[in-house]
Amino acid sequence: MIKENSNRRDFLLNTTKVIGAGLAIATVPQVFISCESEELVTVMNTNVTTFYVLDLTSHPELLVAGAIKKIKIEGKNNDNPLVITHHKNGSFSVVDSICPHMNCAVDLPSDTDSTLVCQCHPNNYSTVDGKYVGGPFQGYNLKQYTVGKFDEAKKTLEIKI
Ligand code: FES
Repeated sequence: MIKENSNRRDFLLNTTKVIGAGLAIATVPQVFISCESEELVTVMNTNVTTFYVLDLTSHPELLVAGAIKKIKIEGKNNDNPLVITHHKNGSFSVVDSICPHMNCAVDLPSDTDSTLVCQCHPNNYSTVDGKYVGGPFQGYNLKQYTVGKFDEAKKTLEIKI
């Protein structure tokens, strides 16, 4: 009787081990497949273009071509203001308002065709792309942010930031 119980227990133990091993073999590739799927999703997510939608209703001057303004968006651009330019040709551009040479603010020009001038040293930067266009310290450019759609009806501007 004891021998019979022992055999039954051994049989159950061995069966469990075989089933367990089988499950492990069947599961391991699934784990790798799952990881690969997650990586694929991650890769796909990096291709998704997301824009911050800036509401221009509180900045109506920027709805008119030929306007330029500094706007601070909380939590963006290290909490430094952005220079948003609505160019005379209707396009928009967005650049950082802080000169990267020694972190001084730039002054806005009265004409959007002119340049942004650093308040500490007379470096000049393009309102179009923030690139250095003159001044004593070459090799510095204002950070530029990609602009998406300007929705005139909704009065919104997309900024990839
Ligand atoms: S801080 Fe702007 S050029 Fe020096």
